[in-house]
Parts: sequence; structure tokens; C-alpha cells
Amino acid sequence: MLWFRAPEKVYIKKGCLPVALDELGTVMGKKRAFIVTDSFLYGAGFTKPITDKLDSMGIVHTTFFDVAPDPTLASAQAGAAQMHSFRPDVIIAVGGGSAMDAAKIMWVLYEHPDADFKDMAMRFIDIRKRVYTFPKMGEKAYFVAVPTSAGTGSEVTPFAVITDQEDGCKYPLADYELLPNMAIIDTDMHMTAPKGLTAASGIDAVTHALEAYASVMATDYTDGLALKALKTIFEYLPRAYDNGNDVEAREKMANAATMAGMAFANAFLGISHSLAHKLGAYHHIAHGIANALVICDVMRYNASEQPVKMGTFSQYDHPHTLARYAEIADHLGLGGKTDSEKLEKLIAAVEKLKARIGIKKTIKDYGVSEEDFLATLDEMTEAAFDDQCTGANPRYPLMSELKQMYMNAYYGGTFTEVAMPGADTAKKPAKRVSKAKAETAPANESVSAAPKARGRKPKNAGTEPAPKKRGRAKKQ
Ligand SMILES: NC(=O)c1ccc[n+]([C@@H]2O[C@H](COP(=O)([O-])OP(=O)(O)OC[C@H]3O[C@@H](n4cnc5c(N)ncnc54)[C@H](O)[C@@H]3O)[C@@H](O)[C@H]2O)c1
Ligand SMILES: [Fe+2]
Repeated sequence: MLWFRAPEKVYIKKGCLPVALDELGTVMGKKRAFIVTDSFLYGAGFTKPITDKLDSMGIVHTTFFDVAPDPTLASAQAGAAQMHSFRPDVIIAVGGGSAMDAAKIMWVLYEHPDADFKDMAMRFIDIRKRVYTFPKMGEKAYFVAVPTSAGTGSEVTPFAVITDQEDGCKYPLADYELLPNMAIIDTDMHMTAPKGLTAASGIDAVTHALEAYASVMATDYTDGLALKALKTIFEYLPRAYDNGNDVEAREKMANAATMAGMAFANAFLGISHSLAHKLGAYHHIAHGIANALVICDVMRYNASEQPVKMGTFSQYDHPHTLARYAEIADHLGLGGKTDSEKLEKLIAAVEKLKARIGIKKTIKDYGVSEEDFLATLDEMTEAAFDDQCTGANPRYPLMSELKQMYMNAYYGGTFTEVAMPGADTAKKPAKRVSKAKAETAPANESVSAAPKARGRKPKNAGTEPAPKKRGRAKKQ
């Protein structure tokens, strides 16, 4: 069985915020609202239309406005402590991905103060079959998300990314219990987004749609949303970037980001996000920019029709990502005769869009010194391999391949296939599995095809996954 889930209510249209909030008082009878936002948005008056509406309905409210970009567990705990004393029956998250994600974690800590955060952050392949049952949400408070940037889609996703200030680790929590109950997409909240945020969050939405479309868990439902989001973003992001007051472009971008969010809320993401999460955590590159720096190389990597390992999921029976990318190119009307030509056109179009909205080419261009980058490279590689997003990627990566993609993103360059250690020896008759079989076999088989190769650790590369990770691949 597959599934499609979205918040119970998604309200859209410029100016819809007060109308949507009306329901909290008149239909739901809510009495106490806890607003979560960041200090900039609070100071700039973003919560004013909300508090005005709540006042008019006699709903008492308080606001926590101490969320920092890439929010920490500590700030979520501080917010949750205030929630415990205020006892809200509705939480309203107002902001970009940071405020919405922080509010989701506060919500969890408020509803279930005894739940173990590290258990909740456990990784798994299929969100419905995790060994840890996520606590039931919504018994104390209804959750409303009001995005102010067009990008993360957090208003409609079951994810929250939070950083543990103790170890610097970014934990993506994932469970449909984290899905907001109501999302309010009101373009009035997006009009002041500066160019940098418009570009970074817009390209984040591009990677959401590209990764959801290529995911091993993509369905007809998520495909439609991803394609529509991509077509809309390619047309309207340059306009929203050039002129923030272009209401039509802002509205189209707001809707496209939410549609891309619905696509990846159900099809999940891939290794662009695995790589980007760690780039953000180790080098503080904005989330959307980090994705922009790796996505084109990831597409070229994913398009291989004979990957060393393919992604595994019951509905994903053979690698067909090249054809999937070609479908996107066709939908965008990019031309090209063969699937390979269409892939190149798609990559060129993404590169053109990135340049058009002022995104630089390499990690180096964002001020990360070579020394710092190389000092963290192996750790980032291992952490990216282990990221929750890796499991839905259509090609299951080797750490050496992730490392190559990081190097390309730093120095500039494109992914080239490197022969598997042991690929030559696999031709010898004494081996259990032939080279042809090793190359086309599903992930678990190709793992067993090269046991000796693992002993020969490539000089500069990471190693293949350790046995415990192979065990996980077999479970799927
Ligand atoms: N939960 C998910 O599904 C999901 C998906 C992708 C990304 N994320 C997370 O989202 C975060 C990034 O979110 P983001 O890109 O929206 O940025 P953000 O929330 O970190 O905001 C960046 C800055 O822009 C300001 N800002 C936001 N809206 C504005 C507006 N309308 N006008 C003026 N300034 C505005 C904020 O005050 C902040 O200073 C990352 O932590 C990332 O990990 C979450
Ligand atoms: Fe993202």
C-alpha cells in the first residue's frame, strides 16, 4: 500500500489569513493561542494581523519570538517551557522553515514532555513502518502553520529539522504526527522577503520537486504536484526575485513551494538533501543554497542506468531515473531528442535559473576555506550517507561517491563514475557473482558480490557502508 497525506486544511489566496483564523474561534472554540516566530518577523510586525484577529475573537495569546535560523533543541525547549505554563489549545507558527520547524518540536515537547527526543529522531526507510511509535499529537493543541517564505514546504510536511547545540548535529524528525493541522498560504506574508531569501527558498523548492520526482517512493499523486511546482517556479521565480512587489509572481511561488512540499511530504527526498543538511550543519550555508550547490551533480549521478547500487523499495524495480528526468525536461519544454540530451537540457536549465537568481557556483564561493572544508569532509560524508533522506534516493550511494560530489561542489566539476574497488577482480571465474550480475543486481546482491573489495579501502575515499548499514538495506 502507498499513501498520500496532507494537512486537514490548506487555505490559499492572498489575504486569506484572517478569514482562515476565524475558524479557530467561531468553529473550534479555541481559547488560548501560542504564537512562535523569530525576532526579525516579530519586530517587523508579522504577528500583528494574527494578534489583531485573535483579540477580536477574545482568544488570549502570547508570542515566543526567539527562534534562530537553523533552530536548536535548546530554543525549542525554552519555547516548550513557556507553553507548559501558558497551556495553549492552539499553536500558530509564523515564519520560514526555521520558525515552523522549531514550533513543531515545541509542540512535541509540550504534548509529550517525557518522550525521548533521540528515539524520535531515529532513521528508517518507510515512515509508516518505524520501530519507534511516534507519540500521538494534537491532544493538547491544534497546530497552524503560516509560511512567510516560499520554499521549505514545512507547512505541509511531516518533518522538522532541529540542531542539537550539544553535538552540532542536525536531526530531521519525520512522522505524520508532525503534519500541521492547518496551513495558511497568504501571499501578503511573503511580499517583503528579501532577494537572498527569495532565491534560497525558491531553489530549495526546486530541489524538493526534483528529488520527490526521482524518489523511489514517487507516486502519480506526488508526480503531478512536483511537475506543476517545477513549471511554476521556472516561470515565476525570476520575476519574484527581480521585483518582490510582483504579487502574481509571489502568489505563484507561494503555491508552488507548498505543492513541492506536498510532493516530498509523501515521496520524500534524496541525497541532495543528505549532502545539504551536513553542509548547513558544518559550514552554515543556507539550506536552499546548500542544495543548489549539489543538485546538478546529484542529477547526473542519479541518472546512471547501471548504478553500482540502486535504491530499494518494493515498487522500484529497476533504475529509470534518466527517463524520469527526461519527463521533467519534456514537461518544461526544454527540447532534446534522447533522454541523455534531455537530462543535459534540464541540468543546463537549473544552472541557468541558479545564475539568474544570483546563486554562486561553488562551496568555496560561499567563503568556506579549503582547510575547513577538507578537515570536515570525511565526517560530512559519513553523516550524509547516514542521513534520513538517503534511503529514498533512486541510486544508493557509496561514501566515496558522496565524497566526490562534495569535492565537485567545492572545486567545481561534474560527477564521473569510478570503477568499484574489486570490479576487475569480479571478472575472474572464482568469484561467486559475475561482473554483469554485480552491476545490475539489486543493492543487497551487489553488496554480497564484492566482499573482498571492502578490505581494500580507497586511498582518499570513504569506505562502503559498514555491515550494520547493509543489514538495513536488506530489511526493506
Ligand atoms: N520541515 C521541513 O520540511 C523543511 C524543509 C526544508 C527546509 N527546512 C528547514 O527550514 C530552514 C530554512 O527555512 P527558510 O529558508 O524559510 O529560512 P528561515 O526560516 O531560516 O528564515 C531566514 C531569514 O529570513 C527572514 N524572513 C522570513 N520570511 C521573511 C519575510 N517574508 N520577509 C522578510 N524576512 C523574512 C527570517 O526572519 C530569517 O531571518 C532550515 O532550518 C531547514 O533545515 C525544513
Ligand atoms: Fe529543502
